[in-house]
Amino acid sequence: MTGPREQDQQTHAVVTGAAQGIGAAIAVGLADAGHAVTVLDVKDTAETVRSIKAAGHSAAGAQADVRDRDAVRAAIDAASERGGGLDVLVTCAGIYGAVTTIDELTQADLDSVLGVNLAGTIWTVQAALPHLRRRGGRVVCVGSVAGRNGGLLSGPHYGASKGGVHAFVRWLAKTEAGNGILANAIAPGPIDTPMLQGRGYTADAVPLRRFGRAEEIAAVAVFLASPGASYITGTVVDANGGSFIG
Ligand SMILES: NC(=O)c1ccc[n+]([C@@H]2O[C@H](COP(=O)([O-])OP(=O)(O)OC[C@H]3O[C@@H](n4cnc5c(N)ncnc54)[C@H](O)[C@@H]3O)[C@@H](O)[C@H]2O)c1
Repeated sequence: MTGPREQDQQTHAVVTGAAQGIGAAIAVGLADAGHAVTVLDVKDTAETVRSIKAAGHSAAGAQADVRDRDAVRAAIDAASERGGGLDVLVTCAGIYGAVTTIDELTQADLDSVLGVNLAGTIWTVQAALPHLRRRGGRVVCVGSVAGRNGGLLSGPHYGASKGGVHAFVRWLAKTEAGNGILANAIAPGPIDTPMLQGRGYTADAVPLRRFGRAEEIAAVAVFLASPGASYITGTVVDANGGSFIG
């Protein structure tokens, strides 16, 4: 492991679920904001890495399934070693699961949605914390409006997994504040990404009458990772076009 970062050294961010969609936009946004970025996903990350490098920024790919505690730890240890430490972790890996009733919910689907969205978030944070604690750092976890309002269109397990992410972030903010770590969540409303595409959803229930763009969630993550967010911890930031106003 490395020691404290020098003043002029580039900060390093790891973003999970960054092969596509919101995670890819966050990785690009953090790179544009000056962080070296590790793009972590269970899928091939070459496209996101390529677009960050094409913009003249620093990026590397890492492949791991966030459900696999040992694999995600090995990937984050290696990324931290390569990046000279770790300053920012964004957990964005997630799956939607079946759109089903509670009566038809299967064990396999429940296990996979909780496994990726909730356990995967916790394993990733667990792996990153020893690195983040070395000089204070930021954790941003992508939750969902479904974790706020139970979800309108998603299955019962998806909203439960995201509500768990929000609660976990609050726990994390309290327990890691003494180590100089700020932890926040983002709760996006419906965002136009591969997760939503092809489902025939409309934006009728969204007061702004449109789906969000991945870049609109990335902007929130970039802010939460920035010096300007230095007194913000334990919050869940809604970015949902008005679809939940708490
Ligand atoms: N799109 C939306 O409307 C919306 C709304 C609210 C919250 N979210 C959340 O935002 C996050 C990103 O969603 P998206 O819309 O970009 O979806 P997406 O399907 O486009 O991207 C999800 C990414 O997570 C990766 N991933 C899935 N399982 C993984 C695993 N086990 N290990 C590592 N990586 C894994 C996928 O390979 C993919 O690259 C998710 O957590 C999702 O729940 C999305």
